Amino acid sequence: MSQTVIDLIMADHRDVEMLFEKLKSQPENRPALVAELAAKFVAHARAEETKVYPELAKADPSERGEVHHGVEEHHEAEELLAKLMEAGPDEAEFLTVLEKMVKAVSHHVEEEESGILPAMAKAIPADKLVKLGRVFSQAKAEELATPPRPVGRTKRELLEQAKEKGVQGCSSMTKEELAAALSG
Ligand SMILES: [Fe+2]
Ligand SMILES: [Fe+2]
Repeated sequence: MSQTVIDLIMADHRDVEMLFEKLKSQPENRPALVAELAAKFVAHARAEETKVYPELAKADPSERGEVHHGVEEHHEAEELLAKLMEAGPDEAEFLTVLEKMVKAVSHHVEEEESGILPAMAKAIPADKLVKLGRVFSQAKAEELATPPRPVGRTKRELLEQAKEKGVQGCSSMTKEELAAALSG
């Protein structure tokens, strides 16, 4: 039996929960674990936003609000991820940020698993969910293969960096365009 996009998304969620546990229990491995979390989280979120959420919005337009909310929650989690990457060796500070990130991600995962994924199971035929699973995996693999983009920075921070680098026309760019210009 081929895996559907729903199976794959849920397997990723369990994987991230395991990483959270390791981050708490293995302080000595934190730098590597944070890097792994960042890469996996961003690849999963981008693949959902570009390949999965739009299919649900198309199949069931009443889910558009839910999908939009999901994207906002990804961005919130990425802001926390950036803070986690910047957190110094101070144990208390790291754990405070980690706790916030775990809370934000758990909330999002719960909403996805109780709202978005059941809505997909209802609105999208099973064979299409299998196909979408392949598209989702492919998008994630591509995302993981590209060098990390500036994660979770505010638009203002990106704009300042773009100005420093002399990126042409940066003042009229969107946050995504700035991030792309800086990673290119
Ligand atoms: Fe997800
Ligand atoms: Fe998500």
